[in-house]
Amino acid sequence: AKLLLLHGPNLNLLGTREPGIYGSTTLAQIDEAARAQCAAAGCGFDSLQSNHEGELVERIHQALADKVDLIVINPAAFTHTSVALRDALAGVSIPFIEVHLSNPHARETFRHHSYLSDLAQGVICGFGADSYTLALEAALMRLNGTPA
Ligand code: DQA
Repeated sequence: AKLLLLHGPNLNLLGTREPGIYGSTTLAQIDEAARAQCAAAGCGFDSLQSNHEGELVERIHQALADKVDLIVINPAAFTHTSVALRDALAGVSIPFIEVHLSNPHARETFRHHSYLSDLAQGVICGFGADSYTLALEAALMRLNGTPA
């Protein structure tokens, strides 16, 4: 099986970006842990961080040709703005899990709505970098035929 991990805008700054909200783990550390978690489960892994909506849309399209089985995505600010990402994920029909480091529901009102959540297999938020570990765990259970 093949898993694709996508990170939206500003997540390249993890480690130094508002550490009180997002923690001190870097994106490289998150990707490394995710890669190891997939390898241990015999699952293929690829990841991309982009600050550009169109680049994420195109990577989602490419996931079809790459035969990606499941996408784990932290859409970051695009969560709250992007019909294009929603349509891309719906368009390729690849199941996805939405993940956030913080708990957007405990924050500003404009973060309470997600354009993706109702299409997602599930949403994991509020556990810092552990949100990714938990999302990957759920993803790998599904890919290995043990529904979470
Ligand atoms: C985030 C939450 C979003 O509201 C915010 O725009 C981000 C990060 C998170 O992981 O907590 O950039 O997706």
